[in-house]
Amino acid sequence: MIWLGIESSCDDTACAILRENKDSIEILSNCLYSQIDEHKAWGGIVPELASRAHLEKIVPVLEQALEQANTSIEEIEQIAFTASPGLMGSLLVGANFAQGLAKDLGIECYGINHLEGHICSAMLDKGEWLADKSFIALIVSGGHTELVLLKPKFKYTSIGKTRDDAAGEAFDKSGKQLGLGYPAGAEISRLAKNGNKNFYEFPRALNEPTSLDFSFSGLKTAVNRYVQTKGKEFVEENMANICASLQEAIADILSLKAVNAAKKNNVENLILCGGVSANSRLRELLEERASKNGINLICPPPALCTDNGAMIAAAAIFRKRAELLVENREVKAWNELF
Ligand code: KG4
Ligand code: ZN
Repeated sequence: MIWLGIESSCDDTACAILRENKDSIEILSNCLYSQIDEHKAWGGIVPELASRAHLEKIVPVLEQALEQANTSIEEIEQIAFTASPGLMGSLLVGANFAQGLAKDLGIECYGINHLEGHICSAMLDKGEWLADKSFIALIVSGGHTELVLLKPKFKYTSIGKTRDDAAGEAFDKSGKQLGLGYPAGAEISRLAKNGNKNFYEFPRALNEPTSLDFSFSGLKTAVNRYVQTKGKEFVEENMANICASLQEAIADILSLKAVNAAKKNNVENLILCGGVSANSRLRELLEERASKNGINLICPPPALCTDNGAMIAAAAIFRKRAELLVENREVKAWNELF
């Protein structure tokens, strides 16, 4: 079965071609146009610009994906697209495109929840949804920071979330205060490699064993105050150390709570996913803490951490195998899945 996965919920226009075999899933291509340069000047994503860029790029990205996969459009047998959550205008471009194409090709088309896509990105190379097991998933992206308990048949229970900013926002907004470009997550991670994580202790909010919620807005304020107090010159001179300390504060609290969530719920498998899961320090610290507690950590490969089309097709494949995929079903908002 040949699948096309389309992702357009935010600022990436992405198409992937996947081949579903009996025991495995092959990614034949996973192409993406990143709109970062279009939004950079504004210091964040401008929804109107994002919709227009999706409209402009979705056909070329699909053509590129088909070419790389050495597949013709007629060979596509099923289409999955991101239906929610995301920027409304951006989602509509992907949804309209997917539905029009499916109609023309006379094939089925499925709307997928973006966050479920992130979760499934961690399962893709396993070729199966581990149907008989329970998991804790820590989803950390630019818009979400959530801890969910996942039971067989895609049953979700929300067990913790951010009360304000998402982890990705904590990276991006703190990076902005430090004078870094948008989005700052990958840049902070790169700079932190040459820094001392113990240079300064940034606050860890809600750091108590009873709470599985997160809060990052205080960290943003603390970075702002730090920059004001120390001055621009000091910050520039010590950028690597500040980035390492900031990254440590975020990775520390995320990994503590994820392991606590797994222990509290007696779950042996922990999934880390979403754009921030590309952060190597977070992966390292979580792996260290998980293995100390006998918990198995499952992460997507770095290339599948940030938004992509393959994760959307993967979610459709796993749902279909569990007989939980209905064509044109109304895709529920994330909080309605619980
Ligand atoms: O999942 P994603 O691609 O888009 C959303 O669904 O939001 O996540 C984007 C977020 C951004 O906030 C970005 O700064 C962050 O992921 N990010 C990282 C890294 N790579 C991307 N944060 C920390 N370290 C990274 N290496
Ligand atoms: Zn995402």
